[in-house]
Amino acid sequence: MTQSAEQPNVTAPHPLDFVSLGKIVQIRERLLSAQAAGKVVFRFESGDPSFAPAAHVSEAVVAAMYAGKTHYVPNNGIPELRNALAEKVRTKNGITNVTSNDIFVTNGAMHALNVTFGGLLSPGDEVIIPDPMWTEVAENIRLAGGVTVGVRLSAEENFAYRAADIAAAITPKTTAIFLNTPHNPTGALLSRSELQAIYDLARQHDLWIISDEAYEDLVFAPHEHVSIGALAEADDTRVISIFSFSKSHAMSGLRTGYVVTRAPLLQDRLPKLLRCTINGVNSLAQWAALAAVKGSQASTLSMRDEYCVRRDIMLAALRDIPGVRPFVPRGTFFIWVELDSSVYERLEVADADALSTSLADDGIGSAPGDAFGPSYPDAIRFSFSCDTAMVREGSVKLREALL
Ligand SMILES: Cc1ncc(COP(=O)(O)O)c(C=O)c1O
Repeated sequence: MTQSAEQPNVTAPHPLDFVSLGKIVQIRERLLSAQAAGKVVFRFESGDPSFAPAAHVSEAVVAAMYAGKTHYVPNNGIPELRNALAEKVRTKNGITNVTSNDIFVTNGAMHALNVTFGGLLSPGDEVIIPDPMWTEVAENIRLAGGVTVGVRLSAEENFAYRAADIAAAITPKTTAIFLNTPHNPTGALLSRSELQAIYDLARQHDLWIISDEAYEDLVFAPHEHVSIGALAEADDTRVISIFSFSKSHAMSGLRTGYVVTRAPLLQDRLPKLLRCTINGVNSLAQWAALAAVKGSQASTLSMRDEYCVRRDIMLAALRDIPGVRPFVPRGTFFIWVELDSSVYERLEVADADALSTSLADDGIGSAPGDAFGPSYPDAIRFSFSCDTAMVREGSVKLREALL
């Protein structure tokens, strides 16, 4: 960071100086400029559901507004929502012993990660994370003063996050193991036995587990989502689970997520962080979330089925292209593609970054592998969260651009 004469009292480097605004944002800017220049754009860089929320969710927002539910709300979430979420987490996720006191409503899973790391970490604490990983996880760990230790996932292992590799990354400073299933960016899913091995390891080394399950409802048959919290012993509070309404219920702009924790330390600290950051999530969004969790889940299921159609369209377009190796996602709305250098030679680009930029100039969004950590400079992620017509048309263009 450069210090200008007009900035008083800027002395030491600040944790924010080590946080970037993200490559995906830069690609998005490029796409928007291509669009402004009259190009048709295909929003394959973005992970934002194309769907509208279910009608009962929208109706709940309007009803809450007319009922004057527009005042300050309890800091940790409205009691109705906390109760409903405790019930959901017990029955759907199998995390027993959870009561409404263990639910903390946040401004999306992003804020849940921010307050969880903020509440847990002291400067220099190490958190083990998968590599590749959606960037904002590492950024939030750094913001909290923590240090990330990446564990490389590999295509040969279906991008599983293996306890043996995690064990090799443990040091005396390790405080927590972070996991994300289904996984952004690879679409990998952790099985019950893989989760059990991670849980056992964490117990053995007395580590926290932070489990980001933002994509719990975006899982393609025959695969199933398992919550690691369901595997914890009854008296063990080390697992902290994070969920979101953004993807499951197409409520990304309503910014509602939640942390589930029975740990006394976090139960003391999270309310303080919630109070000093947001002082309660937007009241209307919370009434919307209540309708989403208590009402019919039919739209969540039909969205998942449509994502499966989109996945297959995009996968078909990416198959049998020399040097292009897509991984079949088991969950999420992303396809992670490994690239050989032959692709760069054929397309006359220097690397995956340059490929991503060149695709953006052609109106095709993507996210280069190095946006997700150091392990995969030769990879690129495409999202199929935009509408099916755009996925269909854009996939044809994408194939043409890569051949
Ligand atoms: C793995 C993962 N966790 C958390 C989030 C944050 O979601 P939100 O803040 O919209 O709930 C995202 C968003 O893309 C994500 O990919």
